[in-house]
Amino acid sequence: MNYRITLLPGDGIGPEIMTVAVDVLKVIGNQFNLNFEFQEALIGGVAIDATGEPLPKETLEKCRNSDAVLLAAIGGYKWDNLPRHQRPETGLLGLRSGLGLFANLRPAKILPQLIDASTLKREIVEGVDIMVVRELTGGVYFGTPKGVFETETGEKRGVNTMAYTESEIDRIAKVGFETAQKRGGKLCSVDKANVLEVSQFWRDRITQMSSEYPDVELSHLYVDNAAMQLVRWPKQFDTIVTGNLFGDILSDAAAMLTGSIGMLPSASLGASGPGVFEPVHGSAPDIAGQDKANPLAQVLSVAMMLRYALEQPAAADKIEQAVLQVLDLGYRTGDIMSEGMKQVGCKEMAEVLLKVLS
Ligand code: IPM
Ligand code: MG
Repeated sequence: MNYRITLLPGDGIGPEIMTVAVDVLKVIGNQFNLNFEFQEALIGGVAIDATGEPLPKETLEKCRNSDAVLLAAIGGYKWDNLPRHQRPETGLLGLRSGLGLFANLRPAKILPQLIDASTLKREIVEGVDIMVVRELTGGVYFGTPKGVFETETGEKRGVNTMAYTESEIDRIAKVGFETAQKRGGKLCSVDKANVLEVSQFWRDRITQMSSEYPDVELSHLYVDNAAMQLVRWPKQFDTIVTGNLFGDILSDAAAMLTGSIGMLPSASLGASGPGVFEPVHGSAPDIAGQDKANPLAQVLSVAMMLRYALEQPAAADKIEQAVLQVLDLGYRTGDIMSEGMKQVGCKEMAEVLLKVLS
């Protein structure tokens, strides 16, 4: 099989971890008879420096013309004070809406090897396996009106709008229900229906849809309670479906249960067309270029790409197994280091991983 993959290394530690992902794909390609054609493109700060825009048209075109997109990370101190339309984050949001990636899957699964890296007690986090399904192209991130406007009295007023249409709710709910069906059969929808009309509407739609999924046990939580339950007793959750902003917040909290955000991949999928696969962590500008980055979330994003976009589950399994094996061998980057383990940098972690894979 031939696949065209667009690589978006981006900023900070992005290029270092992307190199590892590409090496892994080359090895896996040989073993499974998959032929990858790579094309690189600019996004984020590097794109701003080169073209003045965080998401050049050419980048979006390349992404559209590929089977899948592998993104590393964007952003850094250097671009933090630019006007909003020139910020790296705006490039990422443009990529999501430009490719219609309305469904963001963020798994938070604790690896037995890393339980002691969690800030929570072992009995709380052992066995945690949650999938957060976050709506990604709607809600308050994209709703209009938005901006800073002058009121009649001459006072300025900042505005964003949280809005969801029926079809936007239905399509993300469908992903939520179907994800739950393939997992533990439990779906928790998170909203703020006690205060927000848009949330009550969301809750009613999802409740209606649940009759089509009799095999899924649906529950609802307000977002504040969901945040509390996530740290109190995370094992009660299987699949969570929620809107853009709540999903942004809860997925970070869920990620932290696992001890290292440096281990978590994600997938952003649309109705058709290429998906984007990227680690949950950011560009970590403080350690960029120092060979300290943990490449494993990027590598696990490669596995998610193989599973969800390229339908190569055996190749995905092999990569996931290799990551576990490397951890079993005791290798740790700084972010997941614990007593008695062997601390390595990004390059050495990659070498060990490639050795295990081949
Ligand atoms: C994320 C990030 C982004 C978001 C930022 C960088 C725009 O926090 O992917 O969770 O808010 O969606
Ligand atoms: Mg976030």
